[in-house]
Amino acid sequence: MKKILIIGATSAIAEATARLWAVQQGHSLYLIGRSAERLGGIAADLKVRGAKSTQFAMLDVNYFAQHAAALDTAIDALGGIDIVLIAHGTLGNQNVCEQDFAATLQELNTNAISVISLLTHLANRFEAQRHGSIVVISSVAGDRGRQSNYVYGTAKGAVTIFMQGLRQRLHKSGVQVVTVKPGFVDTPMTAEFKKGLLWARPEAIARSICAGVEKRRDVVYAPWFWWGVMGVIGVIPEWLFKKLKL
Ligand SMILES: NC(=O)c1ccc[n+]([C@@H]2O[C@H](COP(=O)([O-])OP(=O)(O)OC[C@H]3O[C@@H](n4cnc5c(N)ncnc54)[C@H](OP(=O)(O)O)[C@@H]3O)[C@@H](O)[C@H]2O)c1
Repeated sequence: MKKILIIGATSAIAEATARLWAVQQGHSLYLIGRSAERLGGIAADLKVRGAKSTQFAMLDVNYFAQHAAALDTAIDALGGIDIVLIAHGTLGNQNVCEQDFAATLQELNTNAISVISLLTHLANRFEAQRHGSIVVISSVAGDRGRQSNYVYGTAKGAVTIFMQGLRQRLHKSGVQVVTVKPGFVDTPMTAEFKKGLLWARPEAIARSICAGVEKRRDVVYAPWFWWGVMGVIGVIPEWLFKKLKL
């Protein structure tokens, strides 16, 4: 039985992951998000599915000054912490960001700075207790900048690099640091996109997350084939990459 904190718990991927944890293993879950109504609904559903206990609290992650207190409250309520999943995110409009730095800053705050702030608080606690798993949803978009979404990609790339350093730091304390890199996932975030063969359901990403934690993976491409796709994209030389319409 594990004590699990989920930040961005109303995300479709987070909800699917919480369901797996509730159904399969009967853990205690503490959910953080922006909508009390939706958090309440998810918490009740997880309890019915088998969670030992569910609690929730509201936080807009862009209020960085509230992070420390929100985390303390959550961890006290759980009676400790074994796993944290950070799942919140926004896919801002790249074209708007190109014209308006305020929009870019908002994207970077939500997708990168808030995550780095939360991780700064959480890392010290996990390091002191010398066990547990820190799981953050980054993205394949953070592996290489592309013209269609490089602001979002910059934020995810920053999170990925931060997680790499954190993993090395916490390795000696026995703390697992998992970077999840989904490809295209059919969730409210991507509702307006035309879906094709490469698209996955949130339930598939949730299975990859749970398996990654269980098998103590460092990086989880989800679904797995994105490891190969990004491997190929990563080795395309810049002189060629800049001419492509990827
Ligand atoms: N969908 C994809 O194709 C894809 C691909 C790669 C990576 N990802 C990443 O996967 C994670 C989960 O996204 P998803 O696909 O499950 O999308 P989603 O269902 O739209 O979830 C996004 C979540 O982020 C929350 N959020 C946004 N801004 C917030 C803020 N300021 N404070 C608190 N919560 C905030 C949203 O809360 P509200 O419900 O209150 O708005 C929502 O719960 C994100 O980190 C995303 O970047 C998604």
